[in-house]
Amino acid sequence: MERDFAFHNPVKVFFGRTAMENLPGMLSRYGQNVLLAYGGGSIKANGVYDQVMDCLRTCGKTVTEFSGIMANPTYTKVLEGARLARTSNADLILAVGGGSVIDCAKAVSIFAVEEGDLWTKYWLEKGDPETQPLPVGAIVTMAGTGSELDGDAVITHEETKVKASCSESAFLPDFAILNPEFTYTVPQYHMVSGIFDTFSHIMEAYFSPTDSDNISDDFSEALMKSLIRNTAVALENPEDYNARSNLMWASSLALSGLLNPSKTEDWEVHEIQHQLAAYYNVTHGMGLAAISPAYYRTVYLYAIPRFKRFALNVWGIDPAGKTDEEIALAGIDALADYIKASGMCSSLRELGISDDSLLPEIASSCVRKQGGYHTLTRNEILQILKDSF
Ligand code: NZQ
Ligand code: ZN
Repeated sequence: MERDFAFHNPVKVFFGRTAMENLPGMLSRYGQNVLLAYGGGSIKANGVYDQVMDCLRTCGKTVTEFSGIMANPTYTKVLEGARLARTSNADLILAVGGGSVIDCAKAVSIFAVEEGDLWTKYWLEKGDPETQPLPVGAIVTMAGTGSELDGDAVITHEETKVKASCSESAFLPDFAILNPEFTYTVPQYHMVSGIFDTFSHIMEAYFSPTDSDNISDDFSEALMKSLIRNTAVALENPEDYNARSNLMWASSLALSGLLNPSKTEDWEVHEIQHQLAAYYNVTHGMGLAAISPAYYRTVYLYAIPRFKRFALNVWGIDPAGKTDEEIALAGIDALADYIKASGMCSSLRELGISDDSLLPEIASSCVRKQGGYHTLTRNEILQILKDSF
């Protein structure tokens, strides 16, 4: 483990079919008032809402509902949640949903207790929180972001067209309840989107220095292989508990901090995707899938041994008769084939973007990350977007 690191993940996780049985015990740690945050209604259709409300009532909680949190949650929605949290004197924010709901709840947790231009202070200037945010608990209904085990809150500022992450350990949820059965009703489009999001989180760390022997890379390869196996099983049978539970736990582990020690971490694919979403409101994991092959075909020349290792260890590419560069490229081709075969989006057109006129503006609004093997130029970002079109 060549680079020094700090590791901190205090989230209490309850995983499995009986995970909800732990909710009353967790609720007893907080005051009377609960702000229940959820999305557009999927939890009402699949019965999770009723289970949660029954539990909250039995525990004697006063519940204020904060509903309608959209995919790619907006700054305006965060302000709405903060008003509700303040007027209801919320003691706990209980987020029930996917990454959008959990991220929005995390953002509300600080906006509810601190005054001022927090968007600039925390999301743009990345300051350290001066106030203790409200506690957040997460009941996860969709696997992918890993938001339940990290301190990130990704929010879109609609007016300025910036989608940014505030990344603070203060935003780590207190607890997370993960029942893989809750994910059975996720539509296939969002299921595979979530799977690719997890895949991408792993690659953002894996494709970055250091390359000397380290446990993070070994974990990453194991998780990627598990994702590949279980994607096929879950596509065949969305109610395969073993597959859905492996996908769910992989999603949580990928952003738990476990895969990052000794790595500088790239995050450029996420950066480009976030700006695509700020302009076109596309589904997060699908956007990552659409641009990843073009991105990795741009940077692989700066790290051929690493891309060769990916091809051999993750995809089982036969090296016979191939140069190192050919093996490296075959690994990226295998990634592109997996994207297509799993029904993930392979292009911006498949994402629903029919007009390429905004691509230069998107390219010029992306942050150019320094943690990967190569820092992209603006022209390279634009070319990746064009190649992905
Ligand atoms: O709104 P509802 O009705 O809940 O429907 C959602 C939404 O339409 C639906 N869904 C969720 N669970 C379901 C379900 N439908 C049926 N059955 C269920 N059990 O799925 C749709 C997508 O949900 P969403 O929460 O938007 O997806 P996801 O979990 O992929 O979250 C995406 C957001 O997270 C951010 C993304 O940028 C995006 O804004 N990210 C957060 C990260 C973090 N906090 O660490 C890291 C990621 O890289 C990512 O940036
Ligand atoms: Zn992501």
